[in-house]
Amino acid sequence: MFASGTGSNFRTIVDSAKNGYLKSKITLLITNNSNCGAASIAKANGIKCIHISRKKFPGLSDDDYEKLFLNALEENKIDFIVLAGYMKKIGSSIIKKYRRRIINIHPALLPKFGGEGMYGINVHRAVIESGATVSGLTIHYVDEEYDKGEIIFQKTVEIEKHDDEYSLQKKIQKLEHEYYPEVIEQVTNYK
Ligand code: GRF
Repeated sequence: MFASGTGSNFRTIVDSAKNGYLKSKITLLITNNSNCGAASIAKANGIKCIHISRKKFPGLSDDDYEKLFLNALEENKIDFIVLAGYMKKIGSSIIKKYRRRIINIHPALLPKFGGEGMYGINVHRAVIESGATVSGLTIHYVDEEYDKGEIIFQKTVEIEKHDDEYSLQKKIQKLEHEYYPEVIEQVTNYK
């Protein structure tokens, strides 16, 4: 798994693997932020965590930087990548090697409210400001373009009159925790 933030989705997925709902093993967390919540959750659960960031490895070409990821993935025999709040773009050589084996969750109904800068509370603020009456979550394969890969699953929520970006974020986060493990199980249970 790749994560940069609080790690609430990461935690739910780790728990689903622990309680046997997910058949896959969560072998590795790659993060660009060694102090993030997800890194602590990994540590608490005995999951290997590798920190790769431009700051930690300055001056590398894109190719050499991406090799750090590819080597880590290969060494740990990773066959599927789940992004859960990973804030950096995935390099093209990684996407090429793991085509249709990388998924992401986005807290809105793509193709709307996606793309660069659309993360965290920004997404929900943009949705509320647009006057939309529904929002939701999208789980999609990751390809070379931000938030543009094939959609696997969407779930909508109604936006009520009293909702603001924070209440909407809470509603969607709850759904993310409910559905991400289920969709991961569906797309990884292919053997
Ligand atoms: C989630 O809202 C997810 O949709 C987005 O990043 C957020 C991660 O939250 N890609 P968390 O770190 O799992 O709490």
